[in-house]
Amino acid sequence: MTYDFTTCPPRHGTGSLKWERYAGRDVIPMWVADMDFLSAPEIIGALGRRADHGVFGYTVPPATTIEAARDYLHTRHGAEVSAEQIVWFPGLVPALNIACRAFVQPGEEVLTCTPVYPPFLGAPGNTGVGLRKVDLVPSEEGWEIDFDALERAVTGVTRLFILCNPHNPVGRIFPRATVEKIAEFCRRHDLVLVSDEIHCDLLLDSKPHTSGLAFRGADAPRTVAMFAPSKTFNLAGLACAFLVIPDPATRSTFERAARGIITEVNAFGYAGCEAALRHGWAWHRQLIDFLRANRDRLETFVAASLPGVRTWHVEATYLAWLDVRGTGIGNPARFFEDHGVGLSDGIPFGAPPGFLRLNFGCPPSQLEEALRRMAAALPHA
Ligand SMILES: Cc1ncc(COP(=O)(O)O)c(C=O)c1O
Repeated sequence: MTYDFTTCPPRHGTGSLKWERYAGRDVIPMWVADMDFLSAPEIIGALGRRADHGVFGYTVPPATTIEAARDYLHTRHGAEVSAEQIVWFPGLVPALNIACRAFVQPGEEVLTCTPVYPPFLGAPGNTGVGLRKVDLVPSEEGWEIDFDALERAVTGVTRLFILCNPHNPVGRIFPRATVEKIAEFCRRHDLVLVSDEIHCDLLLDSKPHTSGLAFRGADAPRTVAMFAPSKTFNLAGLACAFLVIPDPATRSTFERAARGIITEVNAFGYAGCEAALRHGWAWHRQLIDFLRANRDRLETFVAASLPGVRTWHVEATYLAWLDVRGTGIGNPARFFEDHGVGLSDGIPFGAPPGFLRLNFGCPPSQLEEALRRMAAALPHA
């Protein structure tokens, strides 16, 4: 079956966060990370069947959904996970916040690498604990983790390290050796490792993803590995995620911190997740081809037609990180918005002024028009 990634139904008026920001304005939204594609028909069908059942009472994780997640973790990540090691959650952002609440006390700190998805930087402050940031370093290979800087940054009050892999916004799939070093670093300093792997099925290059679950026994730090179908299958609005916390004491500390605060996942979240993990992979294969083509087009276009703009090769995700400092534009997010393209400003990601994130998870025609507007906006020599 051929799926359609060239069109998207209009999203205005559907409560879309991405599109409502620019309601009534001719601005193409290329910011928040959801995609302008229809979900897989297999998922839409499953949601319809769940709706047809017609009873929407309190919902626990259905046994079939748990089995789908366990099979997924086994097949795609080589991880043998029991049902009780899985914690179902209505999103990874609440999970990041609960992790800070569970494992870090006032006066203690969280460590992470920037630039990074803004809720990583907001969660410690939301919970009244400290944050220490270490810059990623751009290299020929892509962005690298600076382990010397990490060693300098870790202190006696550091409790938690948050890793984003694959990385939003720099698009890196960290090599196994890097993830091993992170695991060793967390173990040696007795840090809980939160490994946010929400982008792990959006691999555009044929490089393997190394899960935080790859380490077991004496090699394993206390790990909270975070997964969700929401990026890969464009289901963010269904609010369903699952965490794997192999160590029982770590898991109960986490669950205690969430008690009474976090709601159950809703019935449609489970139905969508199960359908995605069981039946979404043919759609996913074609999605990856489209995203890869969009990525290639974007990288070529930036090099050829956006003077003063630099980007890095995107190995995974549908997000490109742009350094526009060479254009000399003071407030680039505002500048491009005024020229009809809505991008994410880099500052909330912990970047200095002059960086932007562009979401290319959209029909090629939409990407083309956004790039055309950006090129037209820039002064050409
Ligand atoms: C790294 C990362 N984690 C978490 C999320 C959001 O997760 P959720 O919608 O499950 O809260 C995103 C969304 O872009 C993300 O990029």
